[in-house]
Amino acid sequence: MNKTIAVIRGDGIGPEIVNEAIKVLDVIAEKHGHNFTYVDADMGGCAIDKYGDPLPRHELDKCLAADSVLLGAVGGPKWDSVAGNMRPEKGLLRIRAGMGVYSNNRPAKIWPQLAKASPLKPEIVEKGIDFIIVRELIGGIYFGEHKTYEQGEKISEDVMKYSESEIERIGRIGFETARKRRKKLCSVEKSNVLDTSRLWKAVMHRLAEEYPDVELSDMLVDNCAMQIVKNPAQFDVIVTENMFGDILSDEASMITGSIGMIPSSSLGATSNGLYEPIHGSAPDIAGKDIANPIGTILSAAMMLRYSFDMPKEADEIENAVGKVLSEGYRTADIMSAEEGLKPAKCSEMGGLICRAIKN
Ligand code: IPM
Ligand code: MG
Repeated sequence: MNKTIAVIRGDGIGPEIVNEAIKVLDVIAEKHGHNFTYVDADMGGCAIDKYGDPLPRHELDKCLAADSVLLGAVGGPKWDSVAGNMRPEKGLLRIRAGMGVYSNNRPAKIWPQLAKASPLKPEIVEKGIDFIIVRELIGGIYFGEHKTYEQGEKISEDVMKYSESEIERIGRIGFETARKRRKKLCSVEKSNVLDTSRLWKAVMHRLAEEYPDVELSDMLVDNCAMQIVKNPAQFDVIVTENMFGDILSDEASMITGSIGMIPSSSLGATSNGLYEPIHGSAPDIAGKDIANPIGTILSAAMMLRYSFDMPKEADEIENAVGKVLSEGYRTADIMSAEEGLKPAKCSEMGGLICRAIKN
């Protein structure tokens, strides 16, 4: 199959981790006779430096023209003083909105090999951690009006807004995702305080009538944050709004050992998706070849599975990751005190995964 992939390396560790994912994609292409064409696109701090804009229209157009987008990470202290609407992160929000990818899927699954890297007690980890956060990605407070003005003192406002149709389309993804798994959907909101959450809850319950095979429950977001560390085994699929999903997915990643392991897919109405690890640009370790490329490599696997209909190839990547972890190789973030573990740099980890796919 011929596929064009727009590649956004971005800032910080972005270029290093994306290079490893491309090495892996190349091995898959060669093994299965596919032809992946990569088109580089600039976004984030590097685009600000080059064009004075975190996502110029011509770069977004490259992404829209491709069959999917692979993204590393954007941002860093260098651009901290840039005005809010021109920050590197704004590029990320604009590409998500520009591609219309309203559904962000973030798995929280513990690899048995990494059980000891989890900060949770073994008896909690043993019960299993395998859930997915379905995060609404192009609405809510991220995309409401932001303003700061003077009225004797500075006042800032960020508007959180959701329409029924925006809630319904992400709700359906939640139910459909649960239907393919253990059929349990937990809708997370703050309906004891927020109007948007009360609407969210009402829409979820209306949808539930169409999905009688899925068990719907509601949870307040503060309680959910607690339950994720107390009893993560209770969750199958969590569906939630943009900012709650941002926060809960970082928490969920941590209990699986490292945020460096977690991939994500973002999809909208078409098969053209945006694939990125959920971690940031980690400027403190950039350029040192010590980052964990697995989150990005697994994001590439999700691209093959969800956008290119290549489940076998995706399985091969995921199995190769498992094999390399079983062999004891660890990047610094997932290293633990267990005997027999072997430290691996970012580029070595990518190379080991390639080797495991070939064999
Ligand atoms: C994420 C990130 C982004 C977000 C930032 C970088 C804008 O934290 O993808 O989770 O908040 O969505
Ligand atoms: Mg985040």
